[in-house]
Amino acid sequence: MRLSDDSVRVEPLGSDHDRAAFNCGNESLDRYIRTQASQDTRRGVARVFVAVLPEEPKRIAGFFTLSAAWVTASDLPPEEAKRLPRHPIPAALVGRLAVDRGFARRGLGSILLADAVKKIMAAAETVAMTVVIVDPIDDAARAFYAAFGFRSLQGPRQQMFLTLPRAI
Ligand SMILES: CC(C)(COP(=O)(O)OP(=O)(O)OC[C@H]1O[C@@H](n2cnc3c(N)ncnc32)[C@H](O)[C@@H]1OP(=O)(O)O)[C@@H](O)C(=O)NCCC(=O)NCCS
Repeated sequence: MRLSDDSVRVEPLGSDHDRAAFNCGNESLDRYIRTQASQDTRRGVARVFVAVLPEEPKRIAGFFTLSAAWVTASDLPPEEAKRLPRHPIPAALVGRLAVDRGFARRGLGSILLADAVKKIMAAAETVAMTVVIVDPIDDAARAFYAAFGFRSLQGPRQQMFLTLPRAI
């Protein structure tokens, strides 16, 4: 059964969440939430948000991370680059996003990505940001992000981007 926005709560990772049980099928993402996410939060290098269902508040159904980042105009397609200055362009990075296998293909990845973009748009009212960057780990992840309009960035890191709507 597909999950709806109001059947899921997205909240900052806390000490009560069961990080050890998370399993999205990708070893490096599982290891990240189990061993590194809390440390990244403490060090202020990433904000980590988890999705839980109200009836299982400790079980992590999915998570994503947000950090500040930048890109250069030459990383962007020419039609985007021509509207932007030559110095670094402020961006937000959804560094990691994953869904536990028990919740796969039920719309949770979409809910998490929409929540991440909403948080970024709210933050961009205070700290200017032009694009959202993601780091897809494989072709399935690329297909997932492409379904939301993300396009490939130039450069060796195979990142993808989405331009934020301009307020003015
Ligand atoms: C990629 C991932 C986050 C998708 O989460 P999800 O909850 O299964 O995604 P959704 O159900 O919201 O899917 C939304 C759409 O994305 C696309 N999509 C999702 N998974 C896909 C896959 N494996 N292959 C191709 N397209 C995919 C589809 O268009 C899908 O719509 P549909 O189900 O109506 O066809 C999840 O599979 C995951 O955690 N994978 C391992 C980690 C990972 O790859 N993270 C992303 C990079 S860091």
